[in-house]
Amino acid sequence: MKSGCPWRRTGAVRFAYPMTPDTLSVLHVVGARPNFMKIAPVLRALDAREAIRSVLVHTGQHYDDAMSQAFFDDLGIREADVHLGVGSGSHAEQTAAVLRQIEPVMVRERPDVVLVVGDVNSTLSAALAASKLGIPVAHLEAGLRSGDRSMPEEINRILTDQISDLCLTPSRDGNENLAAEGIDDARVHFVGNVMIDTLERMLPGVAGAEPEAVRELPDGSYVGVTLHRPSNVDDRDTLSGIVAALESIAANVPVFLPVHPRTRSRMEEFGLSFERVQVMDPLGYREMLALQSRAGMIITDSGGLQEETTVLGVPCLTLRENTERPITITEGTNTLVPDRSTASILAAFRASWGMRGQPRRPEGWDGKTAERVADVLEVWAGREVGVSTARA
Ligand code: UD1
Repeated sequence: MKSGCPWRRTGAVRFAYPMTPDTLSVLHVVGARPNFMKIAPVLRALDAREAIRSVLVHTGQHYDDAMSQAFFDDLGIREADVHLGVGSGSHAEQTAAVLRQIEPVMVRERPDVVLVVGDVNSTLSAALAASKLGIPVAHLEAGLRSGDRSMPEEINRILTDQISDLCLTPSRDGNENLAAEGIDDARVHFVGNVMIDTLERMLPGVAGAEPEAVRELPDGSYVGVTLHRPSNVDDRDTLSGIVAALESIAANVPVFLPVHPRTRSRMEEFGLSFERVQVMDPLGYREMLALQSRAGMIITDSGGLQEETTVLGVPCLTLRENTERPITITEGTNTLVPDRSTASILAAFRASWGMRGQPRRPEGWDGKTAERVADVLEVWAGREVGVSTARA
């Protein structure tokens, strides 16, 4: 039993609204690109259960078609029920805009639980708004820690987990991290990696979806790159070192970079450009998965690509000092390049090039995570809000 939670201590529901009898209502919140592949399978699994009603809120943290609508289309996510349209801003502005605008939606919708995913600013804001209203929060992809508090995502992870009633973890190290932060075991459920549900579902249909320039190349013959972390792209020296390494690799093998809006604008600001690396607009999910699945290597600072390359058996160089996903190193295909200098990137490239191999499968990375999330929510609902979830 969690201490400090009057709602559980008294056995009474802790928020003021009457419950919807016999239905568990879940308010899902998404905001930015990496959220969309996590919510798609969960919505599908919950929609298939009679006793659960879902409402989808899009905060609009990512708003370009290429960063948002393309993913809804590719992944078959139904249109959001509510769009907040918060857009860009500083971290405080973005976090505050979601916080302020989502509260009335929660008051109106009166969900039994708010489900947030990942670690973006929208995740924390929605969790905080719900928690202050006394609405239980479920966090999917809980427990991941890089140990690096200079990353905005790490702050979002720590705070979201602290105020979540259900922490749904993708790997066992997540359970250990939560235990180390004093989070009661009763709140923590290992469910596996929901990104892999989406990968499993989409992979059979993506052949030929890669960008045209890649289509004719043999499997394993090219490098795919994504870059967007402030630690890589906001500092001129770091970014120019990475650019030099990618240019050097591109002298020997084709290199493709679907460029994030942040990176594009920093390159312009710093007067940097590519000669050999082939730069393209951000890709949709299907195009990116097709590109990854046939690549000889991925070079990235993304969280999701570290996981996807592990399951695809494609070597991954992660240009970061640390990762919140260490299982992709111990059980997967990932290698960190902590100093991100030109020489280190080139050395890591030489060590891993030609090492494409078999897919790796950490525990629970099996395409069935969304069903386990639905199971956890049903059991929780039966116990905490008295919803009968017996299936027809
Ligand atoms: C955000 C997430 C990060 C995630 C990444 C994936 C946080 C703290 N960071 O970082 O965890 O890995 O998304 O993309 O939530 N922009 C556009 N069009 C868009 C979206 C953004 O032009 O559709 C521009 C913004 O104006 C801003 C820049 O890109 O200048 C960064 O966007 P922002 O949402 O602040 O953070 P990301 O770097 O994308």
